Amino acid sequence: MVTEIEKVKLIKAALKAMERAYAPYSGFRVGSAILSKDGKIFWGCNVENSSYGLTICAERVALFSAVANGCREFEVIAVVGDSSDFIYPCGACRQTLYEFSEDLLVIMAKPDGSFIERRLKDLLPWGFKLIR
Ligand code: THU
Repeated sequence: MVTEIEKVKLIKAALKAMERAYAPYSGFRVGSAILSKDGKIFWGCNVENSSYGLTICAERVALFSAVANGCREFEVIAVVGDSSDFIYPCGACRQTLYEFSEDLLVIMAKPDGSFIERRLKDLLPWGFKLIR
């Protein structure tokens, strides 16, 4: 169960991460923060590249940072864009998150702190699982 206080804390972390975005090509800064089941928060921002296809989204940077630090189970992820509207994780990020937490709560926030939330399984019904 994620509390409202935890949600606000996560959105603030995502906003801080957004300040670190490296987005000289699109000019579109994104920040993300993910909360592990054992209560740790990891941040990510988008990191672009002059070879555009190598760009990585903020959500995957946050997730990969968490995994690299030993966390594999998550409660909630927040994403905020330097935008007047809520931004939703792209399809690649949805599938990447699905690998670890089908039940993840996804918070889409605006820079003013307002937010909406959805379950990952509603954003990505029938995500891919490797079943042999
Ligand atoms: N971006 C993210 O960081 N997360 C998303 O969910 C969608 C898009 C980034 C990638 C790129 O640096 C910029 O936003 C414009 O597409």
